[in-house]
Amino acid sequence: MRVVSGIQPTGDLHLGNLLGAILRWVRMQEETECLFFLADLHAITVDVDPATLRKNVREMAAALIASGIDPEKSTLFAHSDVPAHPELAWILGCTAKMGWLSRMTQFKAKSGKHKERASVGLFTYPVLQAADVLLYQATHVPVGDDQKQHIELARDIAEAFNHHTGSELFTAPAPYIGGGTAARVMSLRNGTEKMSKSAESDMSRINLTDDDDTILQKIRKARTDPEPLPESAEGLAERAEARNLVGIMAAIEDRSVDAVLADYAGKGFGDFKPALADALIALLSPLRTRLLELRKEEAELDRILDAGAQEAAALAQPTLDAAYQAVGLRRR
Ligand code: TYM
Repeated sequence: MRVVSGIQPTGDLHLGNLLGAILRWVRMQEETECLFFLADLHAITVDVDPATLRKNVREMAAALIASGIDPEKSTLFAHSDVPAHPELAWILGCTAKMGWLSRMTQFKAKSGKHKERASVGLFTYPVLQAADVLLYQATHVPVGDDQKQHIELARDIAEAFNHHTGSELFTAPAPYIGGGTAARVMSLRNGTEKMSKSAESDMSRINLTDDDDTILQKIRKARTDPEPLPESAEGLAERAEARNLVGIMAAIEDRSVDAVLADYAGKGFGDFKPALADALIALLSPLRTRLLELRKEEAELDRILDAGAQEAAALAQPTLDAAYQAVGLRRR
């Protein structure tokens, strides 16, 4: 078992990233070999200011370490520091088909109405994402639900490449999605949209850097309905906002939605929201304190990323060489 996953260094971590991916990575590093990277080559598929990107890479490394990623246990690196990623992406881009990429819902969502003006990189980036995991023979890729389609594409590319070259070169990776609602944490303003960094209103998400009072305000103002909480998860089927808040509580406490509801059935959000805010503050406040400390350690963060990149490059090289050879390219 080898775990590989990535995150774009887009400023702040939010609760969706944490519950959907990062806190699961933290648990997995105790059990198996893990590689985690900052997907900075993905970040440039949309307009981003160069100075901001440079700053965000270090900031995201600090945020991951503050959240519990231990660079002694996991390999932590920025994927622009390992040229094997874009090298393999080129080869895999010649296996992937236009039709496969055209079906990617995230491209459709991110390119919006102006597809002609989207970068070619935004369209082909799922191929780079496939290279990110295939390079390391990843068996498990822990992600939130929104990345499932991209990992399935990586599987398709791996199988097509193996078939075409008559090799067993690539391991087909499996998306590894957490149970319950943590797989898709929704906006606090609209229960049908996922919580995301790009949503306009900051009130729609909880950020790792929000102070206790901000967390309390955001939960207090989170959209809900006037009904009391039901006795079991089925009662939340048509109540997207309520389902999201209960799901967040369940994910934080590592309990089922039914177990949380057993404590709150018949009660309203006047009771539930303060308890949820307390649970969030208890989770996030120590992470935030660590992050503020780590931000000052720029040289140490750079050292960690350099060491991680060296380890990753060494692990990637044999697979990259074999891919060149499999398609008939000379490798010295
Ligand atoms: P990114 O940076 O958008 O998100 C990082 C991780 O957080 C998860 N996530 C969520 N989970 C639950 N609810 C949400 N609202 C929510 N928002 C984000 C994402 O599913 C992801 O696991 N393309 C990837 C980065 C990437 C990658 C990879 C991931 C690049 N190469 C290879 C896995 C393997 C991305 O943009 O994630």
